Amino acid sequence: MAEPILEVEDLTIEFQLKRGALRAVDGVSFSIDRGETFGLVGESGSGKTVTARSIMRLVPMPPGELVKGAVKYEGRDVYSMSDAEMRELRGTNIAMVFQEPMSALNPVFSVGAQITDALRTNLGMDAKSARERCIELMSLVGIPSPEQRVDSYVHEFSGGMRQRVMLAMALSCDPNFLIADEPTTALDVTIQATILELIESMIERFEMSLIFITHNLGVVAHACDSIGVMYASHLVELGKKDEIFKNPQHPYTVGLLNSIPRLDTQSKYLTPIKGLVCNMMDPPKGCKFNPRCEHAMDICRQEIPKMKEVAPGHFAACHLHDQS
Ligand SMILES: Nc1ncnc2c1ncn2[C@@H]1O[C@H](COP(=O)(O)OP(=O)(O)OP(=O)(O)O)[C@@H](O)[C@H]1O
Ligand SMILES: [Mg+2]
Repeated sequence: MAEPILEVEDLTIEFQLKRGALRAVDGVSFSIDRGETFGLVGESGSGKTVTARSIMRLVPMPPGELVKGAVKYEGRDVYSMSDAEMRELRGTNIAMVFQEPMSALNPVFSVGAQITDALRTNLGMDAKSARERCIELMSLVGIPSPEQRVDSYVHEFSGGMRQRVMLAMALSCDPNFLIADEPTTALDVTIQATILELIESMIERFEMSLIFITHNLGVVAHACDSIGVMYASHLVELGKKDEIFKNPQHPYTVGLLNSIPRLDTQSKYLTPIKGLVCNMMDPPKGCKFNPRCEHAMDICRQEIPKMKEVAPGHFAACHLHDQS
């Protein structure tokens, strides 16, 4: 048995807002083995970023609050760590490529200054070797002419290049675990696929575990060992990639699969999932997906379904499996 590097157990995060409490993550559990790549998939607002940020304790608290649950990294409870232990964990073990590079990179300093700063702080390098390493990392992530670009500022980079800068920055601490949040901005699908390929080659090279966050199940089709599907703050399906693709068990996952643009058919007729994601301030009773689900039964409007093992290592939270 491979040992898990990360365990997320019953993670529940709320934001206390003026309008009331918003439960952004509700009872989410999964674990990731050393070297495993895990895809976290779901529509906008489903709680993917909050889940990822809470692993690194980067959700602002308040307004955020850990209602219950735990995050364990190499068996150590992240929420019991001191601030110093947490800084060390972020500096040398877990790194994140953020969804909005502009919010994570400083516009006032050159890209090189930011990466060398991280190298000097986290790895104790001197100025000269940090600059050399920085240029090496920029070249590794495919930034052309890194010797010149090292002194450029973030606004001088295109969207795709900013993602590469973020990746170089994340790799600078030589992490064992990388969390990559898909950029939602203007990056087109081809650039996304290139970035994902790049991340894949990096995780092999650096022997990292990975969480890759995306809206698009198609993007993780080849890259991930396992997949978790989130809907309205809940994890609704979890399993090995092949199982999820060949044998999806939650109607939402089936909907996501049917809405993937496919290259192997000429069909232009994708089937989007009907309806809209629920309002998280006022979610429906029972299964959050029930208003959009063509199989919805009375119980779906009453009770939140629990995760059940539908095949070895394959879990789904759907009342259709109550009898089986
Ligand atoms: N700092 C915050 N304060 C208040 N609410 C927040 C905060 N961060 C996230 N939320 C809310 O939590 C819910 C989950 O947000 P999250 O960013 O995790 O979604 P997501 O799945 O990453 O979506 P996207 O695909 O658009 O990035 C949303 O309703 C969002 O508005
Ligand atoms: Mg997000």
